[in-house]
Amino acid sequence: MSDAIPTPEHARFGSNSGEALSRRDGHDKVTGAATFAADNTPAGTLHAVYAAAGIARGRVLTLDVEAARAHPGVVEVMTPADPPKLAMDPENKFHGFAFRFDCLQNDRVRFAGQPIALVVGETLEAATEGARLLAPTYEAETPGMGFDAEAPYAPEAVGIGAAPAASKGDMEAGIAAAAQVIETRYETPAQYHNAMEPHAVVAQWDGDRVTLDMPNQAPVMSRPMYAAFLGIPPENILIRTPYLGGGFGSKAIVNGPQMLAVLAARKLGRPVKLVLKREQMFGPVGHRGATRQDLRLGLDAEGGLTALEHKALSVTSRFDEFIEPAANASLHLYPAPAISVSHQAVRNDVGTPAPMRAPGEAPGLTALECAIDEAAAAAGLDPLAFRLRNYAETHPMTGLPYSSKALRECLELGAERFGWAGRPMAPRTMRDAQGRLLGWGLGVAQFPATFFAAAARATLRADGTALVETSGVDMGQGAWTALAQIAADGLGLSIDRIEFRSGSSDLPDAGIAGGSGHTATAGSALHSAGVDAIARLAEIATEDPESPLFGAGNSGTVAKDGRIHRRDDDSRSESYADILARAGHATLVGEGSASRPASAGEQHAFFSHGAVFAETAVDPDLGQVRVTRMVGAFAAGRVINPKLVRSQLEGGMIWGVGFALHEEASHDPVTGRVRNGDLAGYHVPVHADIPELTVLTVDEVDPHVNLLGVKGVGELSITGAAAAVANAVAHATGVRPRRFPIRMETLI
Ligand code: MOS
Repeated sequence: MSDAIPTPEHARFGSNSGEALSRRDGHDKVTGAATFAADNTPAGTLHAVYAAAGIARGRVLTLDVEAARAHPGVVEVMTPADPPKLAMDPENKFHGFAFRFDCLQNDRVRFAGQPIALVVGETLEAATEGARLLAPTYEAETPGMGFDAEAPYAPEAVGIGAAPAASKGDMEAGIAAAAQVIETRYETPAQYHNAMEPHAVVAQWDGDRVTLDMPNQAPVMSRPMYAAFLGIPPENILIRTPYLGGGFGSKAIVNGPQMLAVLAARKLGRPVKLVLKREQMFGPVGHRGATRQDLRLGLDAEGGLTALEHKALSVTSRFDEFIEPAANASLHLYPAPAISVSHQAVRNDVGTPAPMRAPGEAPGLTALECAIDEAAAAAGLDPLAFRLRNYAETHPMTGLPYSSKALRECLELGAERFGWAGRPMAPRTMRDAQGRLLGWGLGVAQFPATFFAAAARATLRADGTALVETSGVDMGQGAWTALAQIAADGLGLSIDRIEFRSGSSDLPDAGIAGGSGHTATAGSALHSAGVDAIARLAEIATEDPESPLFGAGNSGTVAKDGRIHRRDDDSRSESYADILARAGHATLVGEGSASRPASAGEQHAFFSHGAVFAETAVDPDLGQVRVTRMVGAFAAGRVINPKLVRSQLEGGMIWGVGFALHEEASHDPVTGRVRNGDLAGYHVPVHADIPELTVLTVDEVDPHVNLLGVKGVGELSITGAAAAVANAVAHATGVRPRRFPIRMETLI
């Protein structure tokens, strides 16, 4: 088998890709017709509500189970007194995405919000009241909270299996050679995935088979995890995720609350529904751990980097590890002769962190791009000029060429649209009509162009339409539309001729909707499934003396608009339906798969890029920050759907504003509880926080990255946006924000 990457030369792009189509699910979503997982209420459904620990560390002493059971409508109360049986200990860690979870196996409390009992009732109200009546008492211990809770340790891996440290060159020599050295520290807070749709499950057992309606970013991949704990074969599990109201990385993993509901359904022999309350989203279902990042940059007399050192301290839980891979952001962007990144971790009594929307790059590039801004100022260079001065033509660590890298074009285009050329070097020099201090900041965005593995199926039907299937999930980003466009092109059909099924574990495995790699990965599989179906159809026709395509096999055929044409004579063609009918086939099935050969990484570095420019206005008396303008220019390979790409990039820039100014989970240092565990206290940007956003894309033809030439836009624009805002604030005020979110009281 050849391990060459199928390139865009091999792909068929028709009239569907490149169209700014509106979401195919848009109407259903805005009218409420779209049914999310928890909208399914099978006959006889019971409702489960769990009681959450009010302490962060210690033991549950008492639960008033009697009172809960006595409440009308309460059917069952599950507690550690009778631990639900699992086929595998939930302390067992067997997969990068399977974190240790709490499932009433003992009375220990390891973080605030941990499930300590499950109450099942005929109604949600009965279960809710039953859970309240449990009135737990505890033996509480003082939780360890914060960066300095205990001595940090060196983790074995960061992120999902990434190396915790890497270096090249001689750091001390690079520092010694520097004309000046910038040492700087940034801190980022705990952030919680706050998808609009909370985590939920509706579990229905039928003997030893179970159907789980649940929001899940990777329905097929999740099956073996549930199977291992439930002691049934993976194929006995059907996971359905028709729509997903946001995942952000937290819906790819097995969590305790959902598992409890699945176990309750098995025990009671009835369907059980569990939907997390908003406050319950702050604990057992993952979050982004806080980071403290120390950077050291050496600069020569011309402003060239001689050394780049990035150390991150990340908070993880007491009982498991997900280490935010923040420092690794410094491996891929700036070409210092000496580069060193490393991670340490500290255990707190909190729920285990998890991947969250640009894990690593979001906090890591925020710190790096702020440090780069400090370096530019120290060098007396404009921040844009400094970045162009330190532009990596090849990957800084490996020396490999980038498969494509239009960052320079992004910087230039964004700067031009923003009007960057007029930026004064000195801070505190611009004011708006209201007397507010104006500042302009820049942040570079970068994210790996990931590619996973996927399979898909395309079925041509007698009426000339096609059914296209893959398990992949539309997280709300529009995958259901973009993937259908790719599939339609692969089949040589217009998109209204195809039916696209996804979001179910009984379909061919599309891998994970995550890592910004879903369109590229699932799209490549879908495209090749279509190409495979058409190749089979063409073979039937070219071998059939009655077909106008007979004998065209040698010169070849071209598929478009539901017909196969001879390559040597476009006027001779036949419709898919006619070919199928004469051959007596009701349907014809094509199979597709996609993966990136391991050797690809030895030839190219795969990244998407961007440049985010922000203007902020800061009240000189109050320190209140408003973002007044943002321009982002991005290069991420082929654009399948400009409308959806724009919406993703806008969303990421908005997330960046939230990162810079709003988002922070405040853990009480004494109790370990999240003090602002709701959307009133945990701030995310609202419309009034977001100015007009200009989103530009730079054409980027990438012949190496994958079959489609598509990179990814899901997480890219988050990574530059927070630093752009922070750098604008520093330019406005002359005060360098050190801690996120930026607080007004630190600016005046
Ligand atoms: Mo994401 S953190 O790849 O859902």
